[in-house]
Amino acid sequence: MISRRGFLGVLGGVGLAVAGCAETAGQGLTSALRLPEPFRVPLPVPKTARPVRPGHYEVVQRAAKVEIIPGTTTEVWGYGGTFPGPTFDLRRGSRTTIRVRNELPVPTSTHLHGGVTPPESDGYPTDLVVARGRGAGPPVGGHVHQARWTLHEEARDYVYPLDQRAATLWYHDHRMDFTAPQVWRGLAGFALVRDEEEDALPLPRGDREVPLMICDRAFEEDGSFRYPSVDPSLRVTAGVEEAYMEGVEGDVILVNGAPWPVMEVDAARYRLRLLNASNARRYRLELTPGGRFTQIGSDAGLLAAPVPHRTITIAPGERFDVVVDFADYPVGAEVTLVNTFGTGPARNVMRFRVARRAADDSAIPRRLSRTVPAAAKPVATRVFDFRRTGAAWTINGRSYRPGVPLARPRLGTTEVWRFTSDFHHPVHVHLAHFQVLSRNGRAPAATDAGWKDTVDVRPYEVVEVLVRFEGYRGLYMIHCHNLEHEDMAMMADFEIV
Ligand code: C2O
Ligand code: CU
Ligand code: CU
Repeated sequence: MISRRGFLGVLGGVGLAVAGCAETAGQGLTSALRLPEPFRVPLPVPKTARPVRPGHYEVVQRAAKVEIIPGTTTEVWGYGGTFPGPTFDLRRGSRTTIRVRNELPVPTSTHLHGGVTPPESDGYPTDLVVARGRGAGPPVGGHVHQARWTLHEEARDYVYPLDQRAATLWYHDHRMDFTAPQVWRGLAGFALVRDEEEDALPLPRGDREVPLMICDRAFEEDGSFRYPSVDPSLRVTAGVEEAYMEGVEGDVILVNGAPWPVMEVDAARYRLRLLNASNARRYRLELTPGGRFTQIGSDAGLLAAPVPHRTITIAPGERFDVVVDFADYPVGAEVTLVNTFGTGPARNVMRFRVARRAADDSAIPRRLSRTVPAAAKPVATRVFDFRRTGAAWTINGRSYRPGVPLARPRLGTTEVWRFTSDFHHPVHVHLAHFQVLSRNGRAPAATDAGWKDTVDVRPYEVVEVLVRFEGYRGLYMIHCHNLEHEDMAMMADFEIV
């Protein structure tokens, strides 16, 4: 069998045809079935996971047939057999164990994105759960021959102490070389951390607090997901990896797993927790016919004060916690969330229909959080260069080498990390949160506010962040959250010492 490394080697000459000119980070895949009419399917809200006993959850990763495109069925690989998986509604500081049982034909690793998690529960890509009697199979990926694999048969416990501020986190598969196809098939969900500071705020809640997982997919004629892959255990479609080196984009935009859904809302404030869970697609979100988002939180929690935006650019892995006031529109209005980076069907995301007047006792306080940590003085500066080297996506010229850290920051310190790039690379750091200091030597964008774990780095941009190493010692990762780039080894370890 040809290894992925070898496969890419053959294709060394392929250029980045659209790189740099477009706001898109990937190659479009066109669905083979007729696309449904937008704004017909009601917005689903993932159900909240119930603990089996206080602090303990169990979730089974399994295949299930679901109706995503009306009139067809799609096999998803989901946590709990749903896509998105259940939402874990968790409390700061309450140690939580999630037992993940794998009944899928492939190994998995679960990462809590944004979590301040001990290394052994962080979802390291070679730390795998395999279904009973399956074994890990050959390391098909090619670039991981020296990797030390840890295999858990059937199930394992992930332990999350959750010593962190209230925030919108998410969890997803992180298997070495196969994160992109496995997330594409559905292995992702929300995990919300709440705390007393946030509880005390008069923000919209209950039905007026809605997580929105935005991602794109493409479909085969029979309703199954379309994805190009070299893995024989996954579907192989035309045009394999070389065409998709930049990343895979679908032509159907899903919100919480439904195509261009519609949600009836009261003429009142809603808290929308926006997540871009796409493999490669970036969105520039706007409301039409006009309107604004009041950002209250970033990846890692509440902002000190709200920030208004007309548009929000959201890269894969990022979250924006926003409030939209539908009382600004007349009853009967249709307010569409659009993606002005998208063309054709990918320009629409979802629609809100303002159904009725309603009482609203929520408010957006001018001061949101008094516990936003101040940034400390950095003790070091390091550069991470995200770039294509020959036929590979690399960091500092290297493909991922598990267990070989590129940096050894000290626990309790702060450093400046400078990200440079040749393309769209949403850079994500595990465990450590950061603040954006500058873009190309200038002030950060309005949407860079707050503590974050993922930052949108654009072609030939230099983004400096102030990273704070808090929590645990051990091996963590920094990587590109374009999942195709990640699978092509655009990852590195760092070790907190
Ligand atoms: Cu959301 Cu290492 O990933
Ligand atoms: Cu992460
Ligand atoms: Cu990348």
